[in-house]
Amino acid sequence: MDNSNSNKIFKEAKKYIPGGVNSPVRAFQSVKREAPIFVKKALGSKLWDEDNNEYIDFICSWGPMILGHNFKNVIEGVREAIENGSSYGLPTKLEVELAELIVKCCPSIEKVRLTTSGTEATMSAVRLARAYTNRNKILKFQGCYHGHSDALLVKSGSGLLTEGYQDSNGITDGVLKDTLTIQFGDIKNLEKILKTKEVACLIMEVIPANMGVIKTDINFLKSIRRICTETNTVLIFDEVITGFRISLGGAQEYYGVIPDITTIGKIIGGGYPVGAFGGKKEIMDLIAPVGRVYHAGTLSGNPISVRAGFETINYLYENKDRIYKELEIKTNYIADEIRKLIKNYKISACVNNIGSLFTIFFTNKELVENLDDALTSNISDYAKYFNIMLEEGIVIPPSQFEANFISLAHSDEDISNYLKASEKAFKIISEKI
Ligand SMILES: Cc1ncc(COP(=O)(O)O)c(C=O)c1O
Repeated sequence: MDNSNSNKIFKEAKKYIPGGVNSPVRAFQSVKREAPIFVKKALGSKLWDEDNNEYIDFICSWGPMILGHNFKNVIEGVREAIENGSSYGLPTKLEVELAELIVKCCPSIEKVRLTTSGTEATMSAVRLARAYTNRNKILKFQGCYHGHSDALLVKSGSGLLTEGYQDSNGITDGVLKDTLTIQFGDIKNLEKILKTKEVACLIMEVIPANMGVIKTDINFLKSIRRICTETNTVLIFDEVITGFRISLGGAQEYYGVIPDITTIGKIIGGGYPVGAFGGKKEIMDLIAPVGRVYHAGTLSGNPISVRAGFETINYLYENKDRIYKELEIKTNYIADEIRKLIKNYKISACVNNIGSLFTIFFTNKELVENLDDALTSNISDYAKYFNIMLEEGIVIPPSQFEANFISLAHSDEDISNYLKASEKAFKIISEKI
């Protein structure tokens, strides 16, 4: 495969952009490539790079593109919205309609505030929880990623895991001290910590997807809900990935466990910059201008993002009975076929999948249930797998510790090509062992 144009662009990029990219995982560093591919365009399930190579895309912009790239309703809506101007700094009717749609779909959200990213949504949700409880400390699970605000970068997943570190320089000791972390699944320590009644909120990915995908036990979730209620701890479900993906009402609807605050993003912007946090009226009405918890944004509720999000969610809402079943069937099929290949080629690996998310962990473990398990993965086998897949025209996450995303646009042929490429990769990996 010719990657000369991408390689050339990356050389230039590194002169002007730190590491040549605007988000670390995009550099393809952990999969040992000279340069990432630079994308020129996308349509449906496909991407094309600057060398005109065609790929089937299993990153899907890390989640937003659940309907596939350039989905007709979204593009037509955006074209129409652009004609009316880009941003006003004043409210629009469509923001109200989007909020109404979100409230209708999400079981726990009574009121919702839009932000410009998932990071802002989680940061503001934590601030709100602190104000509501008058407590400073927060609790999170190791390996969960909630964006890049200071308080939430502690023992974080996603790019920090990929790059081999779990928190960031530049965060004060005071902030570090107030963020407590435990292993995913550790209900004993969770109860012990929350019983101190010093913790404002527990923030969690209901289905962790930033240390690879982890399947959550329903009883664990139910216990969390009970303990949070007993200790007056605000339970924040970070559904930036799982919202509108695991089901229309997110992972909370899927599991039937309801948080106090939910954060969403990605899909609700249809590929444009967005985030949101919402929850009980009683808590949400603490936000300015009603209350004294400040949240604002020049581009919050941007009309183009809102239109793209509205068209996406409206389509999901109108076709929910078909879409979520279809996505789950496709993903189950991929996961089952990969499990067969792992067995046939005697690869040390296992697959976690739920809804339209899956991760192949290159580990000896039969089940990956938390960060310690995920960290047993052989990242050089993952790098081999990634590189063979790319050569075969399949783009998967350039990191062991991320999810693959299935969209409505993935056809049977795309899935069959993905499996054929995986078989080729497993064969090569097994021969080298
Ligand atoms: C669960 C979760 N929360 C929050 C974020 C942050 O969202 P954003 O990248 O839009 O700031 C992400 C991003 O991947 C995420 O996966």
